[in-house]
Formats: sequence, C-alpha cells, structure tokens
Amino acid sequence: MRKQFLLLCSLILIISSIQSQNNTIVIHADQKGADISPRMWGLFFEDINFAADGGVYAELVKNRSFEFNTPFMGWRRLMGRVPRGRVDVFNTGNPNNPRYIQIINNSSDSTVGLQNEGFRGMGIQEGATYNFSVLIKKVGEKKPSLEIELVNSKGEVIGKISLSGFTNTWNKHKAQIIATATDAKASLRVLLKGEGTLQMDMISLFPKDTWKGRENGLRKDLVQKLMDLKPGFLRFPGGCIVEGRDLANRYQWKKTVGKVEERKVIINRWSSEIAQRSPADYYQSYGLGFYEYFLLAEDIGAEPLPILNCGMACQFNTGELAALEQLDSYIQDALDLIEFANGATTTKWGKLRAEMGHPAPFNLKKLGVGNEQWGPEYITRAKIFTAAIKKKYPTIELIGSVGPYSGGENFDYLWKEMKLLKPELVDEHYYSPPNWFLRNARRYDNYDKAGPKIFAGEFAAHDRPLPDGRKKNYWYGALAEAAFMTGLERNAQVISMASYAPLFAHVDAWQWSPNLIWFNNLTSVATPNYYVQQLFSTNNGSYVIPALMNDKSIAGEDSLYVSATIDTRANEIVIKLVNANPVQKNITLNISGVAKVADKMDVTTLSSTDLQLENLVDQQQNIVPVKKEVSISGNSFMYTAEASSLNIIRIKRNG
Ligand code: AHR
Repeated sequence: MRKQFLLLCSLILIISSIQSQNNTIVIHADQKGADISPRMWGLFFEDINFAADGGVYAELVKNRSFEFNTPFMGWRRLMGRVPRGRVDVFNTGNPNNPRYIQIINNSSDSTVGLQNEGFRGMGIQEGATYNFSVLIKKVGEKKPSLEIELVNSKGEVIGKISLSGFTNTWNKHKAQIIATATDAKASLRVLLKGEGTLQMDMISLFPKDTWKGRENGLRKDLVQKLMDLKPGFLRFPGGCIVEGRDLANRYQWKKTVGKVEERKVIINRWSSEIAQRSPADYYQSYGLGFYEYFLLAEDIGAEPLPILNCGMACQFNTGELAALEQLDSYIQDALDLIEFANGATTTKWGKLRAEMGHPAPFNLKKLGVGNEQWGPEYITRAKIFTAAIKKKYPTIELIGSVGPYSGGENFDYLWKEMKLLKPELVDEHYYSPPNWFLRNARRYDNYDKAGPKIFAGEFAAHDRPLPDGRKKNYWYGALAEAAFMTGLERNAQVISMASYAPLFAHVDAWQWSPNLIWFNNLTSVATPNYYVQQLFSTNNGSYVIPALMNDKSIAGEDSLYVSATIDTRANEIVIKLVNANPVQKNITLNISGVAKVADKMDVTTLSSTDLQLENLVDQQQNIVPVKKEVSISGNSFMYTAEASSLNIIRIKRNG
C-alpha cells in the first residue's frame, strides 16, 4: 500500500514537473529563410478503394455497358415466375465497347427486365432528381415501353418514370426521376413493358446535382471536401494503377478520353491485389478519365500533376518491362499528353481537348516518369524518357522515382542516379508507423540543397491493423504526420510538394487503409489526417523564418515540433506547433525582429487526449479544428499548448 502511495506521488511529481517546465521559443520574424512553394500541399488521387467508379465519379450503375468479364455482374435478370421472354448479351466485335444486351418480352401482360445493384447499393436522396440515360435500338415493329424504377433496400419503389418512342436505330434516350425517399442501398430496375424487343447499352443513372452540375459529373460532397483542402496540386491517376499488374493492365490515358461510351473498360488492379479484400467487381469504366482529371484540378485550383507509365509494370507484381525497342509508344503517349493538355487547338490532341469542351490549355507544368519504380531498368527508361521529353518540351518539369521505401539500398542507388539524371523533382514515399514520423522530423535537415527538390508524393502513418484488416485513421497517426510536416515546411528549401495518400475510401469496398476521406453512398467524413492536411494547406506561408528553442530548430525537443513562416499577403507570422506530449505545455513565445505584434492572435487547434480517436461516417465530429481569438500583450507571451495537439497560431506582424 505504502509502496503504491510512493509510486503515485512520484508519478504526480514527474507529470507536474513536465507540465511546469517552461520552454521558450524564439521566432525570428526578421530572418527570411527559404521561399515556400504556393503549391506545397496537394492531393494524391488513385482509383483504389472505389475512389473513382463507386466514389467520386457519380455514376450509380455498375457495369453499365456489360463489359465486365462476367457480362451480367452487378445485374439481376428479372424474368417473372413463368418466363415469357429473354435477356441476352450480344457482342459486336467493336474493340472498345463490344457488348450490348437484348431484352425480348413475348407477352403483353408480363414484364421482363433487369436490376442493377450499384456500387454496394446506390445512394439515393429524397427529393433529389436523377438523370437516367440509355442507348436503345428497337427490333421489329412492336412498340414496347420501358419502365425505370428506383427501388429501396426493402424492395419498395421510390421513384419511377416511363420511356417510349424507340426506333430501329441506336439512339440515346433520357429521363429524369425524382426520388421519394432516401436510401444508401437502393437499386435500379429497367423493365420492358408490352410485347417487343429492345437492344440496350450504356444504362446510366447520375444524380442531377453533380459537382458544377456537369453531365458525366463528379459527386458534389466529395469534390467539395477536396476544394476545402485548397490543394496546391492534384497528382493522378496514382499510384500503382499507373503501372498495372502487367503492362496490358497499365493506365493508358489515351483510352480514357473522347466519348465516354468508347472508353474501354478494364479490370482495376486493386480487384485482386490485397488478399481478403479483393472485390471481383472492381473495374475502371474511365468515365473519370484524363480530361475529367484535368478539369477537376482546374476546378479546385490545383496544378495538374499526371504520373505516366514508363514501360514498367508494377514491380511488386509481374514487373513486366516494355522492351527498349517498344518504348517509343510509351514516350509518344507522354509527348501527346503534353499536347493534349497544353497544345493549340489546331494540333491533333489539343483539338480533342477543345472538342471535349476545353479549348483553353490546362497549363500542365510537371510530369511524373513512372510511379514507384526501382532498379537499373528504371534508370535506363527514365533516361530515355527524360531526353525525349526535354528535347520537345524543355520547360516541362520531370519527377523521378526513388522507389517505394524511405531508405535502403535501392533508395540510395536511385538517389545516386537521380543526382546524375537531374529531374526537377524526386518522388519519395513513406508509409510507416507514427513513431517513424515523429523520429524523422529532421529527415530533410541535411539533404543536399543543390540536388533535385523533393516531392513527398505519398505518405501516411500506418499502425498495426485491426482484426478486419483496417488500419485506423486515428489521432496519433495524424499528430505524428503533423509533427513530420513541420519538418517538411522548415525545409522548404528542399521540399517542393507533399501529399498524403491515398485520398478516398468507400467504407464497404476498401482495399487499403488508412485514407484521407472515407465515404458511404450518401455521405463522407474528414479524418483527423484530413484536418492536419487542411490546416497546413490553408496556412501555407510565403517563406520560412527560424523558430528556435535554445538556439536550435525544434523537431522533437521535449516532444515539441515547430515551424514558422511569414504569410506576406496577410502580413502575418504563422506558427505551426505540435505538442506530442500527453500533457499540456506552457510555452513562452518570443517574437523577435518586429517592433510590436498585434494585441490578439488567431489560434486554431486540433487536439485530443484520446490518441485512438477517429472520425467515422456516423461520428464525424470526434476530432475537428477549433478556432479562437486570443489576446496577447507585447512580443513575449505565454502560450499553453494542449496535450497532444496541433496549434496554428497567426499573429499580425505589426500591431
Ligand atoms: O497509395 C497506395 C499505394 O501505395 C500506391 O498505389 C503505391 O504507389 C504505393 O505503394
């Protein structure tokens, strides 16, 4: 008993001494350091976890053109109890969209048709309007009609419309349905009424209210979340999806532009990558293709940043290599992409961009050569790509790979080669435990300032998985990322861009975790990691200034991590301070180098003493930023940083 009492007393003593230790941080507001790229904090988009089809691409019908390997995957044929008709699939031999279906109804008093299950259901909102469309050709003289029904998860009809007037040639027919109820797991029925035969393809259903009301558009709530991050750039389309499991499965941008119905559907590499989480129904319709990615980047104010295959399939899979004599077509794809994005409308690919609706250039400036490639095979290919691209487009900046890991033999070899090849940027990736991020806040302190700049193109704190395989998007991970990011900002001289990865995940159809934004068919949730990214990107400074404790930058000293910048446009000192201690910290902030700072400051904090805390689709507010105004008197004042907190402090430079 006495022993326990003594132990308790000494614990209290330790905690109170930690609490009362008063750290003084001096912010040298008059000492200009490196400029910070206005595009520093950006987005990494990959079609993983149903991020595109079933996610941000607002199409609600899965396998709308019957091109999945199993033509009726996602569909159920509805023939009635005594079948009086047929539903068959036909193949035209057209290379891009070969299949269509034919529905025959032999009886005027029966109904034949089919039902689509959507992507783990369809998210339907009461009162909302849905745009249905379909390509139809009538066969024969009979005049059947179509009945389109939205059906909720109990089987009740929650919206319906009829279509008629079909001809013996292929035509697109459209109708709008207004939903009478909300359901996250609704489905769509397409029923042939009356005797006759109809052939159909591209059976599609979109909410009318897409992002910017575009046809073939994107899910509004998800794009809004991207917009709210004020991202500097949008990296697309990945990730390993660029590489493919083999070369046939690689991402080929030319197959994703032009008419939507002519974009060839292929299976998504993430349909079979992760054991236990291999959705056989994960395909790429490419309804969200390169044109739509460029448009999305433009909409959200981000610089477009495509990553292209450089003749190498994913080295974690087949590692298939394009023979060097075959590399020309890969290089041509890169050159043509630059023309598609930036070329005059008189050029072949610039003309296509204009025909698709965007005569003005997309202002492409940077291009990634390969994703997570490694080995001499990569260097050989990167050299050939670099020479060809720079010859035709000397101002396009290139991004080289140093593989999937943050260090090691491959990494060192690739860095050595990158210094010789001199791409403008080198793409580093790290998926590591939270402690790694805390320990590595000084990673870039001694990087070669003359070498290529760093693009921290994929990073996220990963802890051990839960029994269902999911790794949590919890506060501890986000806090560790914030601590690490102060190190990225402090080293803006070498770090040009950074993006958390991956971006999106469907709660019922994910393969990878953690992710920045989770969603179901109706709603989405910003994770603590999202708020960390948002607080950095919306408080990006113009240049770095020193923030010192005992004359040293702060990257883990007393579990504090600090970076400071000047935002010249707002004329504000912006301090980012992470307190990774489990207790609050009293800190003296001493602003030197300005005559007098304002008498109040804006403070935004993200904090929780529960390091395991997450935000979930049905618990969205567990951890959210809190903003307040705090009075200060003079240039030196006490600031209390809550336990386990990220603090963004903005102070006007002169009172
Ligand atoms: O972000 C998920 C995957 O992680 C990416 O596809 C790949 O580049 C990395 O290995």
